[in-house]
Parts: sequence; structure tokens; C-alpha cells
Amino acid sequence: MRAMVTGGAGFVGSTLVDMLVTRGDAVCVLDDLSRGSLSNLASALATGVSMVTADVRDADAVRRTASEFLPDVVFHLAAQIDVRASMADPAMDADVNIIGSLNVLTAAAEVGVPRIVLSSTGGAIYGDGAVIPTPESAIPAPASGYGLSKWTAERYGEWFAGTRALDVRVLRYGNVYGPRQDPDGDAGVIALYCDAALAGRRPIVFGDGLQTRDFVYVDDIAAANIAAATTDGVGHRVFNVGSGTEISVLELARAVGDSVGVPPERWRIDHRPPRAGEVRRSCLDVSRARHELRLGPGVPLEPGIRRTVAWIRSRSRDEARGDHGDALV
Ligand SMILES: NC(=O)c1ccc[n+]([C@@H]2O[C@H](COP(=O)([O-])OP(=O)(O)OC[C@H]3O[C@@H](n4cnc5c(N)ncnc54)[C@H](O)[C@@H]3O)[C@@H](O)[C@H]2O)c1
Repeated sequence: MRAMVTGGAGFVGSTLVDMLVTRGDAVCVLDDLSRGSLSNLASALATGVSMVTADVRDADAVRRTASEFLPDVVFHLAAQIDVRASMADPAMDADVNIIGSLNVLTAAAEVGVPRIVLSSTGGAIYGDGAVIPTPESAIPAPASGYGLSKWTAERYGEWFAGTRALDVRVLRYGNVYGPRQDPDGDAGVIALYCDAALAGRRPIVFGDGLQTRDFVYVDDIAAANIAAATTDGVGHRVFNVGSGTEISVLELARAVGDSVGVPPERWRIDHRPPRAGEVRRSCLDVSRARHELRLGPGVPLEPGIRRTVAWIRSRSRDEARGDHGDALV
């Protein structure tokens, strides 16, 4: 398969690229490196993956990349992912997430790419009040600019699927975690807690910590993307991808503290005021993807946290040695 991956230098995108390379697929990454880094792609680039540094808002660059590479599938992951940034500057968020997605859809349709897989969010599209676990049929009610822009991109995807010869599949992720997640990112609470636990800092919880999330390991998201690209004859276009397990932020903080082995007296929660744009409960009904895309149960939370901690530890060792991945650039 020839796969073009927008946002392929990011956390999820680079994990997907590595999985595609392992399968023997030809891969072209388009990323503006605003958040992702070439160090995430170090091993992939060494195997001949091609890299185009471009902004998805640049329609010509997106079209040129697609027409030169001629992919069988486009995985569109490039996005503005910060919920708080979308609240502060919704126009910027819409520009990247709506116009950028439109450029990718338009290029795919013009070049004759048969299939596109869009990365969307189950955590930010369903609003408070949705049934838990939430099925894809729930009416979206995003509380943030980010949720609204991702939903709008989904709708454009539906429209393209109805008006062009483009098979569009939408994956709505839970809260993704795992190696390479930037602890500064809005979605990176596990990375943040792992980082804090290893550095001897207290975990920050916004609000009472009883808000819940559906945490899904990054390899399971990459595998879901490949399943969405390679499974023919599915009956639906939109799929939730998560663990299907609801866990509170307080429970999560405790699990990270236990995994790192921090004594409870040193792992006291630092409560801060709740943040705007965040839903109270989030847990996805994942039965459709399990059935139609034949996805397995995925990596459970504890081993997933252990792998994330191991990655942060190895990254800290590299940094202490002065072995910065960015030196590869
Ligand atoms: N991480 C999560 O928990 C989560 C949850 C739901 C959905 N998603 C979606 O998954 C996708 C990947 O997210 P991630 O967590 O890997 O984030 P990330 O920030 O690590 O990756 C996004 C990538 O897109 C690139 N990018 C950003 N703006 C760009 C632009 N204008 N042009 C070209 N490239 C651009 C960044 O440089 C980065 O490499 C996004 O579409 C996001 O909305 C993520």
C-alpha cells in the first residue's frame, strides 16, 4: 500500500508511520513540524520514508505532494490539537482543522486517491449529557472550538464521500497516550503525570478529578487506522476507537503513581480550578469498530502506563547524555 500521512511527525502519526513501515508499505509524510519532530521519524526516515515539510493550509503543497506520491490511502492526522488554544483562538483552530482538512480532502479527490482516513475525537465531540458509553449515533454537542472544528471536518468528509469517488472513514479517538506524547499537549495527561512522578513533582488535577476519560494506547490507534484503510465492505463511515473503559482522572493519577513507585505521601494531588471546554464524562462505545474493523481489546492501562514510563525514562537518559533526537534534523 502507498500511504500518505499528514501529521506523520507527531505523536500518533509517527507511531502509525512506524507500523506502516513494518508492514512494508511505502510512506510519504506531510507535516509542518509545528509540533511534531523529525526525531520521531528517525528510524522511518532511515528506511526511505519521504518527508515533505508543508502546512496543510497550503492547498498547492498538499495537492503537489499527493499528485507526486500517488497514494492508495491518505491518513489525515495533521491538526491543531490543543483544546485551550481552540477556546482562545477559534479562528486559528478552524483554519488548521477545517480549511486544512478541506485541502487534504480536495487534493485526495482531485488526484483520485480511493480512500482517506480522518482522525477525529470521541473525547471532544460528544458533549455532556451523552449516554455512557457513547455510541457513534449520539448527536455531537462539542463544548470546545476544537470539538466543533473536528466535527465540521467530519461533515465535510461525509460530503466528499457523497459527491466524489472518495471512500472516507472517520475514527473518533478516546484520549490517546503512550511513547512520544508531548507532556505539554492538552491531551497528554498520562505523559504529564508520568513526567511529574519521575521528576518528583505533584500531579496537577483541574477540578475535583472525578471527571472521566477513555484512555487508549497509541499502538491501538495506529492499528485502527490501518484496519480502517484495509477493511473493505464496512457498513459505517464513523468509528469510535477507545478502550471502552471509563476511568477518573484521580484514579489515573493513582495508577501512574503506583506504576512509578512514588510513595502516597509524596504523590499528593495539586488541585487547580476546572478548565473551560472540557466534558465531565467521556467513555466510548467501541463495539462497532471491534465488530466491523475486527479490532482486538487493545493494550490495558497498566502495561500501557509502564511502557510510557519506560519511554520517558529512556528519553531522560538520552537527554542527560546530550543525545537529543533533534540533532538528527
Ligand atoms: N492525542 C489524542 O489524545 C487525540 C485524541 C483525539 C484525536 N486526536 C487526533 O489525532 C491526530 C494526531 O494527534 P496527536 O496527538 O498525534 O497530535 P500531535 O500534535 O503530536 O500531531 C499533530 C501533527 O500535525 C502537525 N501539524 C499541526 N498543524 C499542522 C499544519 N497546519 N500543517 C501540517 N502539519 C501540521 C504537527 O507538527 C504534528 O506533527 C489529530 O488529528 C488529533 O486531533 C488525538
